[in-house]
Amino acid sequence: MRMTYTSDLWWKNAVVYCLDVETFKDGNGDGIGDFRGLTQEIDYLAGLGITCLWLMPFYPTPNKDDGYDVTDFYSVDPRLGTLGDFVEFMRTAHDRGLRVIADLVVNHTSDQHPWFVESRSGRDSPRRDWYVWSDTPEPNPKEVVFPDKEDSVWEHDPHTGQYYLHTFYRHQPDLNVANPEVRDEIARVLGFWMELGLSGFRVDAVPFLIENVSPELADPHDFLAELRAFMTRRKGGSVLLGEVNLEYDQLLEYFGDGLGDQLTMCFDFVAMQRAWLSLARRDAGPLASALRERPEPPKDCQWAMFLRNHDELTLDKLTEDERQEIFAAFGPDKDMQIFGRGLRRRLPPMFGGDERRIKMAYSLLFSLPGTPVLFYGEEIGLGEDLSAEGRMAVRTPMRWSAEGGFTQAERPVRAMPDGPNVADHRRDNDSLLRWIQLLIERYRESLELAWGDHTVLDAGDPAVLAHRCDADGATIVAVHNLDDRECEAELDLTGLERCVLTDLLVDGTVKVPGSGRVRLPLDPYGCRWLRVSAPEVSPEDASVKAQ
Ligand code: GLC
Ligand code: CA
Repeated sequence: MRMTYTSDLWWKNAVVYCLDVETFKDGNGDGIGDFRGLTQEIDYLAGLGITCLWLMPFYPTPNKDDGYDVTDFYSVDPRLGTLGDFVEFMRTAHDRGLRVIADLVVNHTSDQHPWFVESRSGRDSPRRDWYVWSDTPEPNPKEVVFPDKEDSVWEHDPHTGQYYLHTFYRHQPDLNVANPEVRDEIARVLGFWMELGLSGFRVDAVPFLIENVSPELADPHDFLAELRAFMTRRKGGSVLLGEVNLEYDQLLEYFGDGLGDQLTMCFDFVAMQRAWLSLARRDAGPLASALRERPEPPKDCQWAMFLRNHDELTLDKLTEDERQEIFAAFGPDKDMQIFGRGLRRRLPPMFGGDERRIKMAYSLLFSLPGTPVLFYGEEIGLGEDLSAEGRMAVRTPMRWSAEGGFTQAERPVRAMPDGPNVADHRRDNDSLLRWIQLLIERYRESLELAWGDHTVLDAGDPAVLAHRCDADGATIVAVHNLDDRECEAELDLTGLERCVLTDLLVDGTVKVPGSGRVRLPLDPYGCRWLRVSAPEVSPEDASVKAQ
């Protein structure tokens, strides 16, 4: 292994697992998930093979936006435990070799945060300038983020007669990062949690966070570079994983164009949305074109890949017709759709529970260039609860056993619809859980996937996505059939003539013919990862060489 492939750059081939402490496991029987419960399940997570946990906000909160409305950045929501419980959890995670990152939600606070209470107390409050105030409601952006609840990003404050900016809900006033005191405080928050062991942060709503930073700094991006430099000074290898839902040309800036000194990883919302379009159409084209267009991140940075997360499946980067195609395929009922741009569903029900298709989709996720990010429950095929409000539909408690197993309490914090569970999946060697475990194992062993150069290949059949990853003379080829018919991929592997392709997920080998063109049969929704090994040397060749 070359020095460049060291674990210093651990995020390059990490497997990130996002969970909400509140819905993962209840350790004290009050019906609410907590750090004690989560700590009990660290061995489960380590056994799954994931390498990094991403904790959704666990800070004190009035919970009007599921914790993304924070009232104290320096402590733990008492419903989830104490700081002491947090530290015990961190110790256990580290002991099992897991890193932990957490949501950093500093674009805004809750309107109940003491800073905002102070800021709105009077125009001459010392903290007035910690938020963004204006005498008039300035022009609104084209679209507000939550059109079902808000029609403006400015809210009138009767007490002081001014308007404050809230990019999201009106109870989430935006912090004024143009104020150097606010920027210092944000750095202090990072420093605090890093001291308690965090390896970094998933940064919420990054474009909004930095949009008001100028004219203080020459370039708003300097703020991200400052934060990253601060973190690296404190602890090398700390990461920022950014939520930046923008087109590729704009996205590159968030890594720190060329330098890679800002966000370490950015979620690839573009490839995610085109992947769904491909899945809906059973046509690899849209995803293939996204992967071909996608720029290389700067050295040492990485894309983060996901299919679903805790929010709506946003389809905002597609055209109206494309969005409607996906709605028709995967969320035809109005009740499944949200904000006019997305679906409040989890993946398995979108595929009607078809296990072959579900398994293929995750195989695709793990084989695509970029660090895979799972949302808790994806490994057991957890479904959604459409009776829950809005995006809460996909945030139901984790199911550990047939009875639920999330809590001993009679009434869990959130309704727990029937569904799959960990215990059943563990007993069944063909389960989705076992499949995800296998994918993680193979992905971790196959450094080409994370580190290599990626090429999308012509596959000779529109339903097949074929790609290869090459690093240091080693190659993996992956083929995925997005349709439910048998098909055959025909790949041009010139340069790999007579090499042997060994299946990594199932038994099987294929020899590349002398022509370099290889045919790979695929089952309906079939997927294969193939490792290339050097041509077999026949006994005659060997004896010729020996002479
Ligand atoms: C991000 C989060 C979302 C939250 C919003 C406001 O988009 O992913 O869940 O509601 O920010 O903090
Ligand atoms: Ca509890």
